Amino acid sequence: MNIYKIAVDGPAGSGKSTIAKIIAKKLNIMYLDTGAMYRAIAYKILNKNIKIENINDIVDMMKNTKILFDKDIIFLDGINVSKEIRMPNVSNFVSKVASIKEVREHLVKLQTNIANNNSVIMDGRDIGTVVLKDAQFKFFLNASIKERANRRYKEMIEKKIEVDFDNIYKEISQRDLADINRKESPLAKASDAIEIDTSTMNIDEVVLKLLSIINN
Ligand code: CDP
Ligand code: CDP
Repeated sequence: MNIYKIAVDGPAGSGKSTIAKIIAKKLNIMYLDTGAMYRAIAYKILNKNIKIENINDIVDMMKNTKILFDKDIIFLDGINVSKEIRMPNVSNFVSKVASIKEVREHLVKLQTNIANNNSVIMDGRDIGTVVLKDAQFKFFLNASIKERANRRYKEMIEKKIEVDFDNIYKEISQRDLADINRKESPLAKASDAIEIDTSTMNIDEVVLKLLSIINN
């Protein structure tokens, strides 16, 4: 059986998790949402009122934290936090947490352990550049900021979460900037990644495009 390592990176709302989930099903391989792991840590920092400057407290907290996935559900210390980690308070805070070297080291170790000996498709910001440097397939999904904000807005409305389009637009723009400009593993296209602008593509079109490259 082929062992697949597939990296999907890109900015917020470019379609990474939607596309990666479908491809994982089609290839019958594991999907790992690394963004959810950063969100879970950010959520716990907020919940426990840990100061972001107190790196030692954050490291201790992470050592005593269990993150588990079961299909679309993420469990943080045994509790389903799938909805909570997508709330605006976490979205507005997560990039700060993701810029901390110790947080990245901890989560990258967990991610590489999961990838060991498993076929996996992972999505995030540093998968092609750091986590799965040796991936056979690397994709960098992109779309205009307006389209990405629109997608996220529609998604929130469908989930009946009250949001304002301008706030989503601002949140995504600020998160992109923070992710691109941070020192530790910034959001970047790996030199050997294939970039796909999905601004005018629907989900099926993007999935077909990736599969045609993988199965070629
Ligand atoms: O779903 P969305 O694209 O909005 O974000 P996400 O994938 O859930 O990631 C949330 C945040 O986690 C990102 O904005 C990054 O700050 C951070 N992240 C990261 O630094 N590295 C990763 N591999 C994944 C996420
Ligand atoms: O993971 P990431 O933040 O990159 O994006 P996502 O959560 O997979 O996608 C954000 C929203 O855009 C979802 O509601 C998708 O259904 C939608 N989407 C779309 O309309 N067209 C695409 N080509 C890709 C995603």
